[in-house]
Amino acid sequence: MIITFGSINLDVVVRVETLPRPGETIKGQSYDLIAGGKGANQAVACARAGANVKMIGATGDDTFALPALEVLKNSAVDLSELMQSKKSTGMAMIAVEASGENHIVLAEGANGDVNFEQLKTIEINQNDILLTQQEVDNNETWKAIEYVKSKGAISIHNAAPAKEIPENILKQIDYLIVNETEAIIVADALSISTTDPIKAITKLSKKYNITCIATLGGEGAVAFQNEKKITAQSLQIKPVDTTGAGDAFMGAFAAEISRGSSIKYALQFGCAAGSLACTIFGAQTSSPQRKTIEESLERITYL
Ligand code: RIB
Repeated sequence: MIITFGSINLDVVVRVETLPRPGETIKGQSYDLIAGGKGANQAVACARAGANVKMIGATGDDTFALPALEVLKNSAVDLSELMQSKKSTGMAMIAVEASGENHIVLAEGANGDVNFEQLKTIEINQNDILLTQQEVDNNETWKAIEYVKSKGAISIHNAAPAKEIPENILKQIDYLIVNETEAIIVADALSISTTDPIKAITKLSKKYNITCIATLGGEGAVAFQNEKKITAQSLQIKPVDTTGAGDAFMGAFAAEISRGSSIKYALQFGCAAGSLACTIFGAQTSSPQRKTIEESLERITYL
């Protein structure tokens, strides 16, 4: 089982020609309401990649809750431990420009009430995975990691949006996953000073004895495990919307680790899922099904 502990949002998405600069107003034609939130996106991605998934999170008692949960429900994610908060459902304002790049502004809302105690009614075993991000209260996330590690389970943590991770928590994480920017921010907060994301994850992996992975957009992904470097490549695609691509990577990677695949295969499976997610508009709407990921991998000959 994969337990995803994290945020649930409703994304308000506007397509624009170019992203606005500070102080600038940009006109788009219309907007879409799409289920989002890094936690929920990753839960959906795990389920579509074939995993058995439980989501720990919170929504408000408002009209945004229903559409925010719709894709999770349709993807057979177990929502029995969700909490209903008095705050409003989390919301993200997203602008997507023609190149596929985005700008995201978050309103935390109910995500701020997600609590590690929600994990306590779940039977957690050694083969289970806790999948976390940094969009809910970080202290609750650290407690959740400590709790599942005390049960012998596996921790996969995505430091997004990036913020300092306490050293005692970092040592307990089995797989730390960051993008290029996040790699530098996480390393810098731990006095590892470098502007090179690959150097940052190499040093983090060595110093804390953990597997550290950097996703590199169109350049694929790199992992460092036991001082060994493992690489994977992205698919050649034309990006439509990069929103949720990192979450698609995370879910597909976690699903493969949960199946007992090698890190090399899980990394490549994650890269393929992330690439495919860039070809469709929206976050949860773009997360690929297992069969689609497998078919895309058949076109990569070196595996
Ligand atoms: O990673 C993409 C997600 O970030 C969006 O769905 C948005 O809700 C924000 O949480």
